[in-house]
Amino acid sequence: MVQQTREQWGTRAGFLMAAIGSAVGLGNIWRFPYIAYENGGGAFLVPYLIALITAGVPLLILEYSIGHRYRSSAPLSYRRIARPAEAIGWWQVAICFVIAIYYGAIIAWSCAYLVFSVRESWGEDPNAFFFNEYLQMSEAPGAISGYVSGVALPLIGVWAVVLLILALGVRNGIEKANKIFIPLLVVLFLVLVVQALTLDGAAQGLNALFTPDWSAMLNGSVWVAAYGQIFFSLSIGFAIMVTYASYLRRRTDLTGTAITAGFANSSFELLAGIGVFAALGFMATTAGTGVDEVATSGIGLAFVAFPQIISTLPFGGALFGVLFFGSLTIAGISSLISIVEVNISAVRDRTGLGRVPAVLLVGGLTALVSILLFPTPQGLHYLDVFDHFINQYGIALAALVMLIVFAWALRRLTVFQNHANAVSTLRLGVWWKIALGVITPVLLGFMMWDSLRTELM
Ligand code: PHE
Ligand code: NA
Repeated sequence: MVQQTREQWGTRAGFLMAAIGSAVGLGNIWRFPYIAYENGGGAFLVPYLIALITAGVPLLILEYSIGHRYRSSAPLSYRRIARPAEAIGWWQVAICFVIAIYYGAIIAWSCAYLVFSVRESWGEDPNAFFFNEYLQMSEAPGAISGYVSGVALPLIGVWAVVLLILALGVRNGIEKANKIFIPLLVVLFLVLVVQALTLDGAAQGLNALFTPDWSAMLNGSVWVAAYGQIFFSLSIGFAIMVTYASYLRRRTDLTGTAITAGFANSSFELLAGIGVFAALGFMATTAGTGVDEVATSGIGLAFVAFPQIISTLPFGGALFGVLFFGSLTIAGISSLISIVEVNISAVRDRTGLGRVPAVLLVGGLTALVSILLFPTPQGLHYLDVFDHFINQYGIALAALVMLIVFAWALRRLTVFQNHANAVSTLRLGVWWKIALGVITPVLLGFMMWDSLRTELM
């Protein structure tokens, strides 16, 4: 272990922007709206807010406190708590490596679609275009060059931007970039939402999303979905916040910052719900169907439904496309930066490498795997495998690891409580320990059981 003078954020606002940039990602835009719709609509907001308050924010505070106290990457921080816990940190590093590979690919597609929006290059059938032409790239003449310019080039571009920002360092790279990205993202997305709200059928979409089904609150899997969304959306359990908090100055209000970041992420998520479902309401209205027939999430939402909506718009389709894919790209890049930084800082703490060599080594390797895996026709297959891995086992495995962490951290919670209280205006009381020591482990256990049950059925 080599000691170096640790980099620092310039300001608390800079750290906050970076933390929000990490949290606000694909999950806010293409995951939350559908999860809320599927799990009780307006009634979902109750378990969701309870999950934010009882698990999301308390876990953020814990991750901040760990990074801030030990001023080290995840593996080294955990090692300083208890020697064998270092392994958990490296496990998180491995997960981040996998996520970065496919997160990068999705951002690259989003960049390509930003350009496609202008001329509606997907033609009459966006579904066939995405899966058969864009990703598979037919044998037709010109396919190879289309392939290179459509898939490979944007991917290389995304990685070049991410590695450049990381190479510039915590303050001049990550912080500065997020100070531009986050305000820009908010402006772009607000304009998108306003445009979506003016569309025919927007009200129908919002009704579909927000009409509460109160019986959902009695359903255990709705609660699992709420906690799952909060964990995923706040990127909890991936060591990202441990890493970012390790660059904080000594006197920083940890609790206040965690509350702000948590609620900012959820506000963006709600805004995304409004924008996405207003657009889906328009899609249903023009197709003469119900919202249920068109509601979807993930790749299907971004690369099939949205292109359809963009093509159907009477005017302003290109603008709508640029706003949507621009938002998706910016939200994705700021998250990807944080994911890769986890690994860069872990390797630096371990080897004593300088920032630039570490970025070239760790970031370069991740970028290389991402670029070599995805611009092949099997790319989508790998994405499917990763997606399945993350969704089916990711939560269960994260839960398992978290429970192990809590088994020994429970006794240590007081240490971190005092640590956060020493620098924060808001004092953590016994409720924080109850949230982390009782509510969260019980819920994680339940989630693990639930996902294993559905997997085995
Ligand atoms: N929090 C990100 C989002 O909402 C997703 C993410 C998960 C990013 C895990 C990094 C690690 O999109
Ligand atoms: Na998020």
